[in-house]
Amino acid sequence: MNIEKLVVIGQGYVGLPLAMRAVEAGFDVVGLDLDESRVKQLAAGESFVEDISAARLSRALSTGRYHLTTEYADAAGFDFCVITVPTPLRDGTPDLSYIEQAGVAVGPYVRSGCTVILESTTYPGTTEELLRGLLESASGLQSPGDFHLGYSPERIDPGNPTWRLENTPKVVSGVDAAALGRVDGFYRRIVERTVPVDSTRVAELTKLIENTFRQVNIALINELAVLSHELGIDVWQAIDAAATKPFGFMSFRPGPGVGGHCLPIDPCYLSWQVKRTLGRQFRFVELASDVNHEMPEHVVQRIMAGLNRHGRPVNKSRLLLLGLAYKKNTGDMRDSPAIDITRRLQVLGAEVRAVEPYAEPHHVPDGVAIVDLTERELRAADAVVVVTDHDGLDYDLVARTARYVFDARNRCGGDNVERL
Ligand SMILES: NC(=O)c1ccc[n+]([C@@H]2O[C@H](COP(=O)([O-])OP(=O)(O)OC[C@H]3O[C@@H](n4cnc5c(N)ncnc54)[C@H](O)[C@@H]3O)[C@@H](O)[C@H]2O)c1
Repeated sequence: MNIEKLVVIGQGYVGLPLAMRAVEAGFDVVGLDLDESRVKQLAAGESFVEDISAARLSRALSTGRYHLTTEYADAAGFDFCVITVPTPLRDGTPDLSYIEQAGVAVGPYVRSGCTVILESTTYPGTTEELLRGLLESASGLQSPGDFHLGYSPERIDPGNPTWRLENTPKVVSGVDAAALGRVDGFYRRIVERTVPVDSTRVAELTKLIENTFRQVNIALINELAVLSHELGIDVWQAIDAAATKPFGFMSFRPGPGVGGHCLPIDPCYLSWQVKRTLGRQFRFVELASDVNHEMPEHVVQRIMAGLNRHGRPVNKSRLLLLGLAYKKNTGDMRDSPAIDITRRLQVLGAEVRAVEPYAEPHHVPDGVAIVDLTERELRAADAVVVVTDHDGLDYDLVARTARYVFDARNRCGGDNVERL
């Protein structure tokens, strides 16, 4: 039987799980990444993505159908190519340079009948207005006509043991019916359920709706938390009570701000496009961004006030932060509010130490000592701050031992605990 060749461009949080699933589904997979150290690490069987165990990675490597490379020449002869490169913001503007680089570099290996799929989150129109032209000029071929092109947004939720790549429905699209058929057929081998939509623009917008919905609702509940504190009302209990309504309500929790590669960034892709194309503001997104961005400063103000009540200035205080990642049970510190909180506390003269079981040393902010969660550390801290509520930390010990706890996640209880 002819084994089909898949190239996954980008072996990060999105590309690596896809590559693993594809090897398991029988594809011959090239994991292509320009980051040499990442490629070496993966080739040695070391996974940096929590959801992909070293054992699973080693199994994939041992099939002989998972090849890691930094060379685009190894893409030659592919049947499917999926692009999972970053789409950050640069000065508030979408930075599509990674997609451009990938498109230009893989273009020469596009041949008749092959399929290219973009998964990176981006504004509606990117697949057809940007990527298509790059692939066409580099290959001399056309889509539709010669090769197939589509878009399928990634819904990966790092650290979520229930909803994984294979059992989360996957929205799929193509530039025409034939491309949709190819893209759909590919993902049917990877995931349990696909959701075909009519155009790449609809698929691109789908992802932005999902993330904008989360960002706006988190901002709503964050603002409510700030106001409820001033009103002297327990917002956490009110949310739990509201969540008993069996219809028409979805529960979101306050926190120290939003982070990661998606929530603070993706909605801005949409508001940028609305402004550029329509000359209008997407007001909800802008308001939500503002509210969420203000949360780290709110947390710092609350810690300062708390220390003050304990007769301590923040200057020269010793603070122990629990969790630096933007999300629990992951080590991903990209745009984490913990980084912002740390910097603000350090500027005020505090000594910041942190418990972060998933820490990658090169991502830890300067001047922060990573320590174990011990009674000694807890007793020595003027304030303990629950920033990211990783499971597996002993919150009872924290509440029992620490003098003063500022809990931004509602994980601790007791008289010495102040909640966001
Ligand atoms: N992480 C998530 O939870 C998540 C969820 C849904 C969607 N997304 C979207 O998926 C995309 C990828 O995100 P990620 O979290 O996997 O990013 P990541 O930074 O973990 O991985 C991207 C990888 O692409 C590599 N890369 C960059 N340019 C390259 C190029 N030209 N050729 C080859 N490799 C290149 C980088 O070295 C990196 O290893 C983004 O658009 C993101 O918004 C991410």
